[in-house]
Amino acid sequence: MLRSDINRILREAEAFMLSHGYILPPFSRWSPEEMKARKGEISAILRAGLGWDMTDFGKGDFLKTGLLLFTTRNGRLEDLKRGGGMVYAEKAMISRKDQLTPNHTHIVKSEDIINRGGGVLVVELFGGTSDACDRQKGTTVFCDGIERTLAPGERLRLSPGESVTLMPGDWHAFWAEEADVFVAEVSTVNDDTADNIFEDPEVTRFSGIEEDEAPWRLLVSDYPTMLGTPDQA
Ligand SMILES: [Fe+2]
Repeated sequence: MLRSDINRILREAEAFMLSHGYILPPFSRWSPEEMKARKGEISAILRAGLGWDMTDFGKGDFLKTGLLLFTTRNGRLEDLKRGGGMVYAEKAMISRKDQLTPNHTHIVKSEDIINRGGGVLVVELFGGTSDACDRQKGTTVFCDGIERTLAPGERLRLSPGESVTLMPGDWHAFWAEEADVFVAEVSTVNDDTADNIFEDPEVTRFSGIEEDEAPWRLLVSDYPTMLGTPDQA
């Protein structure tokens, strides 16, 4: 993705979330220079991967296939392994109208996908067989506490206020209809480097960036190159 496009999309995202009454944490508004100047204070932010995140899933057309995210909190995998402590995560996301997040599942993470406002969030679901998506298989999910048994490929249509709980092995793709949707994710500890399995092997979780102007905000994927590892922070 072009850095100039990333900068513009981030500005649009901040305004869109504000229009829904949602204010991101203070470090969301720090410039790259401020992040660098304060890197001694932010090792927990770097370690947890908190902050702005944007992807075109390696397809090169963000508005067609892509997602904007901000990870507001994220626990510790060590806590999850020992079975107690900070085992949760939360993200704010924007799914644009007709913008696909491609079919995928998670090995560890269960997640509630919540429509916080805007248009309708469509979630298409399949079951899985031995770690692969099975397009002949449906699944059973809970939507705000109500059990729903779904046929293979059945599409949930979540209006503002509605949500679905997805478990590991539930294969899901989603997009917005009618208007852009402000989406929240409440989940188990999140590990975007290892816990996303996409049905299409050509899909990638993070995008390459072409630097055609200075970054307005850093993305989580910029931290290692621009700020160093958390231990160096
Ligand atoms: Fe997911």
